[in-house]
Amino acid sequence: MSEEKFESLSKTQSGSLGEPHTLKASPDFIANRSVAEDVYARSTRDRLGFWEERASELHWFKKWDGVLDWNPPWVRWFEGGQLNAAYNCLDRHLDGDRRTKPAVIFEGENGGSRTLTYEELYAEVCKGANLLKSLGVTKGDRVTIFMPMIVETVVCMLACARIGAVHCVVFGGFSAGALRERIADVQAKLVITTDDGQRRGKIIKMKGIVEEALRVGCDCVEKVVVVERRQSEQGGTGSGLQGKELAKREPQAADPRFVFYHDALRDMPVDCPAEVMDAEDMLFVLYTSGTTGKPKGVVHTTGGYMTGVAATHRYVFDLKEDDIYWCTADVGWITGHSYIVYGPLANGATVVLYEGAPDYPDKDRYWQIIDKHKVTIFYTAPTAIRSFMKWGLSYLEKHDLSSLRVLASVGEPINPEVWKWYYKYVGGERCPVCDTWWQTETGMIMLSPLAGLSEMKPGSCSSPFPGVKVNVLNRAGEVAEWGHNGYLTVPEPWPAMMRTIYGDDNRYVKSYWSHWPGIYFSGDAARRDQDGFFWIIGRVDDVINVSGHRISAMEVESALLEHPIVAEAACVGKTHEVKGQALVVFVTLRDKDAPKDEVIAELRQFLAGRIGAFARPEEIYLTNDLPKTRSGKIIRRLLKDIAEGRALGDTTTMEGSQVLKELYKG
Ligand code: PRX
Repeated sequence: MSEEKFESLSKTQSGSLGEPHTLKASPDFIANRSVAEDVYARSTRDRLGFWEERASELHWFKKWDGVLDWNPPWVRWFEGGQLNAAYNCLDRHLDGDRRTKPAVIFEGENGGSRTLTYEELYAEVCKGANLLKSLGVTKGDRVTIFMPMIVETVVCMLACARIGAVHCVVFGGFSAGALRERIADVQAKLVITTDDGQRRGKIIKMKGIVEEALRVGCDCVEKVVVVERRQSEQGGTGSGLQGKELAKREPQAADPRFVFYHDALRDMPVDCPAEVMDAEDMLFVLYTSGTTGKPKGVVHTTGGYMTGVAATHRYVFDLKEDDIYWCTADVGWITGHSYIVYGPLANGATVVLYEGAPDYPDKDRYWQIIDKHKVTIFYTAPTAIRSFMKWGLSYLEKHDLSSLRVLASVGEPINPEVWKWYYKYVGGERCPVCDTWWQTETGMIMLSPLAGLSEMKPGSCSSPFPGVKVNVLNRAGEVAEWGHNGYLTVPEPWPAMMRTIYGDDNRYVKSYWSHWPGIYFSGDAARRDQDGFFWIIGRVDDVINVSGHRISAMEVESALLEHPIVAEAACVGKTHEVKGQALVVFVTLRDKDAPKDEVIAELRQFLAGRIGAFARPEEIYLTNDLPKTRSGKIIRRLLKDIAEGRALGDTTTMEGSQVLKELYKG
């Protein structure tokens, strides 16, 4: 751990420990709660036994021989066990009443809905799996999925899982360059995309982005499957495309690499046996940002991951058979993988899948969906809640939200005021609020109250999930005293933990396991209060969390350096009222006389093109120089002070303090 990082951590320490008092769920909620009272005691008594019990709730073709093989940081859970993730999400629900239960309720941005029962979803997935097989995809092959939030995205993920292919979903907001990098890194054999995506009424040419991505350096890709949105909206009946639309696809039909999904699906049989996978076979790779410019392909395997996400989804949200569960995350991020697809479907839940934005066509869109589908469990991000607060209560008041019984939050620290607003106005003071802390790397929720069982404190993610251990450590690696800021770590392996970084074991060891041997370091700072509640402070590395999107400062900087006008660049995060954090960029130019306004506009656009629109900086400072240490390292800490408008921190190690004075003037 570098000195610089520890210093910045100490400075974030605040006197306040948040709310001293705790809140309980209502007596009514508690009386109907499904989770057993003694779950914490049970898991403490026999941690591995607890996880074995959770694993037994899945369907295994063959039971495991050993529960845990731990050779830090290498782990194997449920060694010798065999199962299939898609089988667990579909086939095993077909015997009883769940056969005709809605599995996915899709809500389009335009208000159209489409519901698939478990039986229907099973049929779609089997056909999709047969399509993949017919295109030469076999067990272990990687498939990149670049899609908006539509039914076929879920179907294709499960179709990959069914045949043992490794899916690699890339968030639909990424640019061609970012997509290309991820396709090439994972060496995808096939890419699945849509012709168009839609966001706030605007059409996004997804296929165009894929075509651009494939132009160079993606020779690994043999086929591109294109899902046509019109067909998706009509439930894939295939009657939708006529005249102009058919003409539009002709030139592509001539390219033998392109396959039209719904056309091809029509000839596919419904029968497709699920591939028998070892517990430690790879299920998916998902890219996330680290502290270097290169994204990390986080690897998750099958048995432990499925055990972890199914158990957490059921326990945290107090899931019941008739719940209508809605998680607003994008399926392109880990929350979508674990808590839209694998956790809920493994539990036979009914999942709402919404394609659009919270403010389209109006700012009451989420409340309208909750009312329309009688949503009972609602899982969203603090950024969204902060926007709702800003937009005002009138939007909520138009709708009946009385179906809600559990609320949850993920992705960023939720400030106590935001928590209280969520509890009071969305939940009507009758719904427990679960602030869930976890990461792409952890795969599953690690810290959270269990609805109805745990006490809650507004703004705190409460305590570790049963069977999980989490510690706040000081620099020496000792457990920090309560009230002291420290590093958030996990001292014992957990089932859904990442296994490595795709193709880069060394980076895996270095990024997560090199600070304290055998202990996982999350990259976050936190503190525990006198009641044992955890309070997350935020990242202590150079990862910036913008509206719950993890962005690496280095990734932004290296993208900027590709622009011919940029000589040097530095990127930092700044507190933002709605987004949590926003990007602020400092740039020195090769041509000092370039017209400032034009350069700034150009660089904003350039970053959107290189990474994605969500990486557009809030502010760009043009400057003659950047503050550096004597060894030439840019001092981001000082730039952060400037971005936040704070008095400057310690400048003793800095070269040329004049630079800073000039910068400070803006
Ligand atoms: O900084 C923490 C923050 O999000 C990071 C993980 O981001 P990602 O891998 O994209 O996964 C997001 C969804 C699980 C963490 O290192 N974070 C996540 N949840 C919380 C949080 N910060 C505070 N409170 C949370 N509940």
